[in-house]
Amino acid sequence: MITINDAVFRLQTENTEYIFRKTKHGHLEHIYYGAKLTSPDIEALAHKRTTQAGSTTVAYDKEDPTYCLDSMCLEWSGIGKGDYRYSPSEIKMPNNSFVSDFVYKSHSEKKSFVPMKELPSARGKDNECQTLSIVLHDKVSDVSLTLIYTVYEKANCITRRVVLENTDASPLVVRRLLSMSLDMPNMGFYLITFDGDWAREAHRNDRFLKPGVFIKESRTGSSGNKNNPGFLLCEEDASEEHGRVYGFNLVYSGNYLSFAELNSHELVRAGVGISPHCFEWTLNQGENLETPEAVITFSDSGFNGLSKNFHSFVNNHIVNEKWQGSDRPILYNSWEPCFFKFSQGKLISLAREAKKMGMELFVLDDGWFEGRNDDNAGLGDYSVNKKKFPFGLGSFAKKIRKMGLGFGIWFEPEMVNENSNLFREHSEYALRLPGSEATLGRNQLVLDLCNPAVRDYIVSSVGKILDETGACYVKWDMNRHISEFYSEHIRSQGEYFHRYILGLYDVLRRIFEPRPNILLESCSSGGNRFDLGMLCFSPQIWTSDCTDPVVRLSIQSGLSYLYPQSAMGAHVSDAPHQQTLRDTPLSTRYNTACFGSLGYELDLRFLSSVEKKEIKEQIAFYKEHRKIFQYGTFERLPLKSSRLKNKTFWLVKGKDETIAGFFQLKSGVGEETDVLRINGLKDDAKYRVTTKSQQLYIKRFGGLVKHILPVTLNPDGFILRMANRFYALKDCVENYECSGKTLAAGIKLNNQFTGRPYNNTTRLLGDYGSSLYTIKKTSD
Ligand code: GLA
Repeated sequence: MITINDAVFRLQTENTEYIFRKTKHGHLEHIYYGAKLTSPDIEALAHKRTTQAGSTTVAYDKEDPTYCLDSMCLEWSGIGKGDYRYSPSEIKMPNNSFVSDFVYKSHSEKKSFVPMKELPSARGKDNECQTLSIVLHDKVSDVSLTLIYTVYEKANCITRRVVLENTDASPLVVRRLLSMSLDMPNMGFYLITFDGDWAREAHRNDRFLKPGVFIKESRTGSSGNKNNPGFLLCEEDASEEHGRVYGFNLVYSGNYLSFAELNSHELVRAGVGISPHCFEWTLNQGENLETPEAVITFSDSGFNGLSKNFHSFVNNHIVNEKWQGSDRPILYNSWEPCFFKFSQGKLISLAREAKKMGMELFVLDDGWFEGRNDDNAGLGDYSVNKKKFPFGLGSFAKKIRKMGLGFGIWFEPEMVNENSNLFREHSEYALRLPGSEATLGRNQLVLDLCNPAVRDYIVSSVGKILDETGACYVKWDMNRHISEFYSEHIRSQGEYFHRYILGLYDVLRRIFEPRPNILLESCSSGGNRFDLGMLCFSPQIWTSDCTDPVVRLSIQSGLSYLYPQSAMGAHVSDAPHQQTLRDTPLSTRYNTACFGSLGYELDLRFLSSVEKKEIKEQIAFYKEHRKIFQYGTFERLPLKSSRLKNKTFWLVKGKDETIAGFFQLKSGVGEETDVLRINGLKDDAKYRVTTKSQQLYIKRFGGLVKHILPVTLNPDGFILRMANRFYALKDCVENYECSGKTLAAGIKLNNQFTGRPYNNTTRLLGDYGSSLYTIKKTSD
């Protein structure tokens, strides 16, 4: 809800409230952002200025020495009028100065969101969101800046963006224009970011906010795997379940900048927007520049409360309406089992196995097109490899569909190999700086998406294959960072990175809007473009090339602060794992992947009978609980003691059922009891708690089996190897009937194995062990 009273603007969501007001000089002064208030006393809430801030301070108002922009909380601040903090904008104004001073001119309200021209944006039905637009005008030049706020009540999120318009006769040059900035008094904030690189994305990092500016920025052309655009600010005592937390994110897939500054007056400014790195944008008279949308949220019930807001926002306002709440298929992907080495026959037999186990979609990954037998050639040419598919791709897709599986296909449309027909015919389509050699990444060059002919080529070549195969799923990849960003198709090279992303959005729209039934999963060497911009087009994203469950625990935990499980592609791979060589139980690989949009990517030809049986059971369990896994309320349980850092608890809560995942990295000997503690259930309702049964493979015990057998057998001998293929032990299953209150107090789980013989009341987890628990309401 938006209320405007006496130049005070109140934006309310279900649980939060955001207030600012117009000052006597027309600046917008931020008053409050936090938990919802019943009747806020604006004077009490406002940041006080009863004395001048110090003798070096610059006073904006001759008559009022306390009116210093540097010590005020502002909704927007320019440069050169006494505010020395990091400004959300740096503009060479029409008068050639860098000084800007935007003050209130008018405002308007709308009972809906306001779509953007070229950028994707959040969406809501008319009763779900309202928009407030405030036009500010520069005091000297004929330039206006419109601040646009859209309030998403149920999701407790507010989006913010700006539109800069030049109506002056002279041009202006934008060097930086972020989407928002927010000023607040410092509450001893911690700044939390999600960082990494290829195959180790989104690891959580906490740091105490100290004086100075903290900036994280992508300069690779994508939102990037080095750090995610989303970040949090929280009070010191905030935990998963308690405390005050602010969250920020951006609906954008290109270079971005997020910052948080603590200034000398103990004020914090945080903001996010397009990165100013090599950015320069000229606006002539009558032209405007629209920024992507920033998303902000607040929770006073800790990180889990904050994640709930972000998840609801993504599921209901970012993901395309067609896919909102839709069941995501359990897919089988050909990449890890085959890489480039396959024949149609091999794929068919894998697909058959996948179908037998209950999978729903077969994804033909890289290697299907002409010349593509390794990663040196073929990108750019989307005509089928006749050796691998002698009867064409359409016929192969038909065979897959006949088995009762959907057909999905991989592309990397933004790239070209020098060894390709496209490059031989149109080398000018690739990015390169005239007079210099282009640098390769994964042996490939980036196509110039600023060139309309390139965009047309992608739209028609990808579209043709989609129509020929009737694909219902596409994996859209992008496997290298951008270099040599130069194009003859733009007015100024400072526009390059932003124009590239606008080009990408244009291509995605043109391919997928006319084919709304195709589920798009975007990928960029895994999570190199895991952002809200891509999620507007692709309801799920390939989270990481690393599917090792131990690394995935950190990656999926990190991303879960900002994005819902439905958005995260998560697959079960072979062990030892191709990147870490870690050998993990099949149960743990599944137990991690099922907290996302599940898939399998292991070689089904070499599985033992017990492994096949276990996968069948896993899939049946996932199908039974798919809604909860993909859309249930996700929570991370706080694990406070340092020994517990070795363990992870994830929860997904549905209406009458909760599923808990317990994961252990290293096993100890005779360690503390593990406690399953679940808050927020109905105090007096009764719940049945059961461990999901899973297999314990004999090979895990190695030579130890001799202690429980009457005869000594060679652990690597024929008999035990055969036994391991056909026979497995059952892991310990615990059952409890208890009230919601008891669950909140915590169930003490059975002891873990500490060397005494195996029995089925001992939890045999070992290193990288894990279990799932279902908590089902049996009576109110
Ligand atoms: C990237 C993707 C993988 C796979 C390969 C194919 O690395 O992240 O999942 O599709 O490309 O080349």
